[in-house]
Amino acid sequence: DSIHVFAPATVANVVCGFDVLGFAVNEPGDEVIMRLTDKPGITISKITGDDGRLPLNPAKNTVSVSVEHYLRSIDRLDIGLDIELHKKMPIGSGLGSSSASTVAGLFAIKTLLGDDTDPSTLLPFAMKGEEMACGHGHADNVAPALLGGFVLIRSYDPLDVVRLPHPAGLWCAIVFPDVDVPTREARQIIRKNIQMKDAVTQWGNIAGLVSGLFMQDIDLIGRSMKDVLVEPVRSMLIPDFYLMREMAMELGAVSFGISGSGPSVFAFTRDEETAKRITTKLQKHLTNIKIGSNGYVSTI
Ligand code: HSE
Repeated sequence: DSIHVFAPATVANVVCGFDVLGFAVNEPGDEVIMRLTDKPGITISKITGDDGRLPLNPAKNTVSVSVEHYLRSIDRLDIGLDIELHKKMPIGSGLGSSSASTVAGLFAIKTLLGDDTDPSTLLPFAMKGEEMACGHGHADNVAPALLGGFVLIRSYDPLDVVRLPHPAGLWCAIVFPDVDVPTREARQIIRKNIQMKDAVTQWGNIAGLVSGLFMQDIDLIGRSMKDVLVEPVRSMLIPDFYLMREMAMELGAVSFGISGSGPSVFAFTRDEETAKRITTKLQKHLTNIKIGSNGYVSTI
């Protein structure tokens, strides 16, 4: 009675859709191994890949806390569970690291218990994990980590999640500059009020991006991925953000922006080669300015 589950990294916001758009990549991702045990309660026996940063205490770990919320909802707190968590991506990277772990944990328990309801029923529990991780229960990482592909959070209250299509042959280059940008803080610096003219620009772009996804129009996707609300503020937390954008666009990126709350950045490309050239160039630049980095290339 054990199960091994993988859940992928995700890029939230997709530049113009703050808190409402996200997509999953093929890799990296986190893995959870879950076993049913005889002793009621949840234990975490092992965490790897976190440099000792995550708590083994089940009351403080987002995976066990969201699994417990789920068990409570189905009145099964009598169950005994042991969790192993294997982190395969950097924490605090803007790649939905906590979401991937939480979603893997929830999917594991759901499957172990033979619960065959739609996976989207797990979303509220995964959002509890996000709330614990950064103080806000946003769904733009957990929803794509759970459902795959592109996802729109049409509404939070009531929760209305829409899976979106995307053009075949869209590639994603991701670079994580190893600087500290906690989501909690990256949310606090955002402006609370916005100008009507900026709102008009933003919703035009969101509608353009979603249209581009449906129409398989990669040019439309590219010219819609602009953010006048959040990026101007958050880009300050990312080393050489605008220079990296220039480099990526020069190499043929379709679009470039911050992944989630950063510091990771991502670019869409039409092919794998261009995506690889972009990660190589940006990582080389980061090395030159003495910042470590990870690079990933994935289809969507
Ligand atoms: N939408 C969230 C934010 C994603 O931008 O704060 C965090 O990964």
